[in-house]
Amino acid sequence: MSERTLVLVKPDGVSRGLVGEVISRIERKGLTLAALELRTVDRATAEQHYAEHDGKSFYKDLVDFITGGPLVAMVVEGSRAIAAFRQLAGGTDPVEKATPGTIRGDFGLEVQFNLVHGSDSPESAEREIKLWFPNL
Ligand code: PPS
Repeated sequence: MSERTLVLVKPDGVSRGLVGEVISRIERKGLTLAALELRTVDRATAEQHYAEHDGKSFYKDLVDFITGGPLVAMVVEGSRAIAAFRQLAGGTDPVEKATPGTIRGDFGLEVQFNLVHGSDSPESAEREIKLWFPNL
């Protein structure tokens, strides 16, 4: 049974030249790309994407960061794609939570600059894919 998830290579991942590394890990895991776009996201879209975090201490920094440069948005699909990508990404904090061998564990140092985003549930995936790729 195939599933879809929304993956972002955040602006830090793009500026550090890690797009190919992230895509390579996705493909080597056995997942496939259903859509991919390089884009600089506007504030309204970023605020919708992170709406559940509105009011948290890091919300403004997060929206500033995600709108601050080009990112790569992708729809990734395959069996258990949501959990599979989150396994590849590692925990939110690249040092305290992510383990070596994961994208964040191998390449990240700070929680704000944690390189990638992946939908956290089927409901989030549906909402996020509609937001980023309304014509898919
Ligand atoms: S929470 O509060 O547990 O739901 O937050 P969490 O799931 O760990 O993180 C949600 C997203 O917010 C980002 N985040 C931060 N950004 C900036 N500064 C700080 N301190 C911070 N803490 C969390 C985190 O990277 C998550 O982004 P995404 O894109 O969803 O991975």
